[in-house]
Amino acid sequence: MIDFKSIAGVIHDPAGRLSPFKIVVLLLSLLPGTLTAIDWIGHDLGARPVTEAIHQTGLWAIRFLIITLAVTPARGVLDFPRVVMLRRMVGVTSACYATAHFALFIVDQNYNLFKVMTEILSRFYLAIGYVAFLGLLALAITSTDDWQRSLGRDWKKLHKLIFVIAPLVLFHYAVQSKADVSDAVFLTGLFVWLMFWRAIPRRWQTKLWPLPAFAIGAGLLAALMEAGWYMVRNNVNGLQVLDANLDISYGPRPAVAVVLVGVVVLLVAAVRKLVKKWRVPSGMVRTQG
Ligand code: HEM
Repeated sequence: MIDFKSIAGVIHDPAGRLSPFKIVVLLLSLLPGTLTAIDWIGHDLGARPVTEAIHQTGLWAIRFLIITLAVTPARGVLDFPRVVMLRRMVGVTSACYATAHFALFIVDQNYNLFKVMTEILSRFYLAIGYVAFLGLLALAITSTDDWQRSLGRDWKKLHKLIFVIAPLVLFHYAVQSKADVSDAVFLTGLFVWLMFWRAIPRRWQTKLWPLPAFAIGAGLLAALMEAGWYMVRNNVNGLQVLDANLDISYGPRPAVAVVLVGVVVLLVAAVRKLVKKWRVPSGMVRTQG
């Protein structure tokens, strides 16, 4: 049965009012797909438009997946409660881009479903992507209010699957990246930051002091993962890869970019806390007056 209430909820706030905030985010989520479609129609996707579209939809699927995982931390760290109402929309957006990605893969295999399945079964990174895709689809389908009610406590357990799906997708991304895993390492570093946040006790999740450790820890792990990857796959000296993080002549390496994102989060959180502190006493003065 179609859950029309959940569909309407895409652009309504929890109180049932039309939400401009959600409408803007919905339009922004549709933008990358629309731009890819426009480029395709205008023959601007290069010599192999299907391959290019597979890449773009895959990239947006994984980006929206990481954004989905960042929603709850954003509420805690940045003190931004309204952001939580976006979680379902952003998660479903990721599943939609993943579906387009898979559909384009089928197009690339000339709609030959037998070939699609043999390709998936014969290439490990495709098999991993396929498992992740089925998981994402299951989460998107069961994300409605009706499913939430009927699954009860099991709903939360089921949706914890996202913490398994994300590493699978990151691995799929890294393996297909072949020569340059920079972007995959960067997203993996952000994922590590988000997992650090989830691992600490709830009472610390709104504090500032763990944030510098998260930034440095996630950056270090990203650097080690990158070095390990090139050592194992390309037989490159891992110490040289680690050393490259200190050289910014070609722009910041992914591990450095992870630290920078961590620092920006810390600064924004600090400013939000200062503004809040400053507002409370001025509010009290108003009440007293
Ligand atoms: C249904 C299973 C899947 C199949 C058959 C599949 C297939 C592919 C293929 C063929 C490529 C391009 C490889 C190349 O050019 O060498 C690719 C890349 C990629 N896929 Fe998937 N994929 C699947 C699931 C997913 C899922 C669920 C996600 C994310 C949520 C995802 C994210 C990506 C990303 C980020 C890339 C790299 C894009 C780039 O580097 O520009 N894939 N995938």
